[in-house]
Amino acid sequence: MRTFIATELPKGIRTEIFSLRHNIPHNSARIKWVKEENIHLTLLFLGEIFEQQLEEVEMACKLVSQRHKKFQMSIKASGVFPNFRRPRVIWVGICQESREHLVSLASDLMRALVSLNLDDRKDFSPHITFGRVKSVYDLHALQRGVESISIETEKYTVKEIILFKSTLKPSGAIYTPLSRFQLQQ
Ligand code: 2AM
Repeated sequence: MRTFIATELPKGIRTEIFSLRHNIPHNSARIKWVKEENIHLTLLFLGEIFEQQLEEVEMACKLVSQRHKKFQMSIKASGVFPNFRRPRVIWVGICQESREHLVSLASDLMRALVSLNLDDRKDFSPHITFGRVKSVYDLHALQRGVESISIETEKYTVKEIILFKSTLKPSGAIYTPLSRFQLQQ
């Protein structure tokens, strides 16, 4: 099964992020927008794991969640990956204070799951993808659209990390929470 570890966002903030698509002109690119209910922040993408590995993954998530406290998070700024010459992913970013918590959680998860051989993954750069660029019609219009986004959400508390199963369907991915791990007080 295809799996990843992520944090969820409050509904109001997901709605706010989902509406950012209106900043991007239709004639700038063909973009697949992430469904509102699917907007999340990935801490570690595990990819395909065997059913028998699930227990080990859950144990690692549990251990990590016991070592980290709940923290405040807010969403700020936007951009594209890998860059404006070749935009693939449109994202919103995370305010500096929360980034440190996320980076520490992600690296701890990575260490706890070395047995899955994930070590060759690129450096973790916390972000929330809300659009995937399928083809570009007008690079400058796309860049202007992304740069016109100014978002700074209210703070919310990240209380848990979640192990998700991702099922790829022609109509889009379905993310199903498999287990939730509470962060500490
Ligand atoms: P993305 O939002 O930057 O695309 C489920 O696919 C989640 O895992 C997404 O949040 C996705 O990040 C993340 N992810 C990280 N690496 C991935 C990969 N190699 N393939 C698919 N998803 C990946």
